[in-house]
Amino acid sequence: MREYSIAAIPADGIGPEVIAAGVTALESLARRLGDVKFSVETFDWGSAYYRKHGAMMPADGLATLKKFDAIYFGAVGAPDVPDHITLWGLRLPICQGFDQYANVRPTRILPGITSPLRHAEVGDLDWVIVRENSEGEYAGCGGRVHRGLPEEVGTEVAIFTRVGVQRIMRYAFRLAQSRPRKLLTVVTKSNAQRHGMVMWDEIAEQVSKEFPDVTWDKMLVDAMTVRMTLKPQSLDTIVATNLHADILSDLAGALAGSLGVAPTANIDPERRFPSMFEPIHGSAFDITGKGIANPVASFWTASQMLDHLGEAEASARLMRAVEKVTGAGITTPDVGGTATTKDVTAAVVEAIHSSNV
Ligand code: IPM
Ligand code: MG
Repeated sequence: MREYSIAAIPADGIGPEVIAAGVTALESLARRLGDVKFSVETFDWGSAYYRKHGAMMPADGLATLKKFDAIYFGAVGAPDVPDHITLWGLRLPICQGFDQYANVRPTRILPGITSPLRHAEVGDLDWVIVRENSEGEYAGCGGRVHRGLPEEVGTEVAIFTRVGVQRIMRYAFRLAQSRPRKLLTVVTKSNAQRHGMVMWDEIAEQVSKEFPDVTWDKMLVDAMTVRMTLKPQSLDTIVATNLHADILSDLAGALAGSLGVAPTANIDPERRFPSMFEPIHGSAFDITGKGIANPVASFWTASQMLDHLGEAEASARLMRAVEKVTGAGITTPDVGGTATTKDVTAAVVEAIHSSNV
């Protein structure tokens, strides 16, 4: 019996609803496969914890998480707590403290989900965006002086290190190499930003020599939005800085039909620390508690988690089950259906147990 310990942090808004759905799917996979077990421990960290304790998680939160095999994360953000507190109090300390430097965001048009692109169908858009997740524009480097005065200055400095760029580039080339098309697009803005971005281009060139079988090209981020929209089939694996990939992954999610189904993995490729898996959608207060949150992103990221844990068969079975259910039109209102979170979850559980999935 292979056993994995998972720390669940459902946190805010619809986080608890979609993580509960995901845990149900994991349990059902374990029953179906018989030789794997998930022991899930749930932590009540997040905005409610902040209101009570003045911090999003306990001071020894990272030490507690470190002993788990993976972290399954819901969403953070609450109307009455500033966003930079919820973010820098929980999610970013985990990403940065555990050096989860590769943020991996697959995008596909799932069966039954319609892309807003007129001619795009299932198979026309199959990308993985690799987002640098430890530095760049999110390095947290900057400050404000002369606050409130007319001469106030605010700086937000992007940090690019050779080590940081090299390791994300290697990760992206390796991922591209593992996919059938072996195709990588490196995104920068090195025409206007002539220091760190030019270094990105140079390092991409150097790292590419280690992967002679990967075809790669370079795109400026603005032109990339056009290519994603007009020639989605020309792209496969994409690597970009923290901020560029943040923006491009929203576009990718929208083009694939819904941000509600998009997953993300925050990975420490060296496996020194647990990696963290989460849906991209935020806490979504407008639908919190209504029972209609789309659990697909939460299933998809659970599938990424299974892959990372080495459970490729379970991972593939979960995605086949999800695609069977979306293909059958059992979807939540955000993607045009009428099903509830519970309906979709029950259908996925049934598909996991059916013999033709
Ligand atoms: C994402 C989100 C976050 C980010 C927000 C919530 C800060 O947009 O995961 O893409 O920019 O990293
Ligand atoms: Mg984003």
